[in-house]
Amino acid sequence: MMDHYYSEEPDVPLRTKTIEVMIRGERFRFITASGVFSFGKLDRGTELLIESMILDERWKILDLGCGYGAVGITASRFVRYVIMTDVNRRAIQIAKKNLKINGVKNAEVRWGSLYEPVRGEKFHSIITNPPVHAGKEILREIVINAPRHLHDEGLLQLVIKTKQGAKYIKGLMEENFAEVRELAKGSGYRVYAGIA
Ligand SMILES: C[S@@+](CC[C@H](N)C(=O)[O-])C[C@H]1O[C@@H](n2cnc3c(N)ncnc32)[C@H](O)[C@@H]1O
Repeated sequence: MMDHYYSEEPDVPLRTKTIEVMIRGERFRFITASGVFSFGKLDRGTELLIESMILDERWKILDLGCGYGAVGITASRFVRYVIMTDVNRRAIQIAKKNLKINGVKNAEVRWGSLYEPVRGEKFHSIITNPPVHAGKEILREIVINAPRHLHDEGLLQLVIKTKQGAKYIKGLMEENFAEVRELAKGSGYRVYAGIA
């Protein structure tokens, strides 16, 4: 089987590269790794999501499909608590290291698929750059099950390539949320927020 960034156990040899980024007016260092999404860089879609995501200092949020942790770690400076999850075990190890090197104390990383690691928990926002290449069924699961993990008026915030599923995702969000807003667009991506 081909090795993908969303494999549970990547079988490409481990290589790492540390990057420094300045985003939302804050500086971060991220260890990135082969076999984990966006090796050696901050993905353009992720960057648009981070720049435009709505955050509040009272919130507990979920970063679903955290990869090396860019979304959850940046959000941790602006919210009360962050849970970061991923199905890729290498991503989990790297995200834990990134919490440490960025001095993050108000976040934790959990392994598991979709909402399994947060069964029964609710959030003020679920934020994700979803694993589009894992297939439409995974995207659908993320969207249709989000409302039961959100408080009233909680937000599902996600980024998607305009030409790779944006129409589909927006339609699904409109069916499952009271309101859907476009938070940003650029470089071939759209960021949507669904209000539960
Ligand atoms: C597009 S990447 C985004 C990673 C990271 N949030 C970022 O923006 O750099 C999607 C992530 O979802 C993870 N993923 C794939 N299938 C998943 C599943 N069923 N449950 C949770 N995470 C999954 C992948 O391993 C990958 O890290």
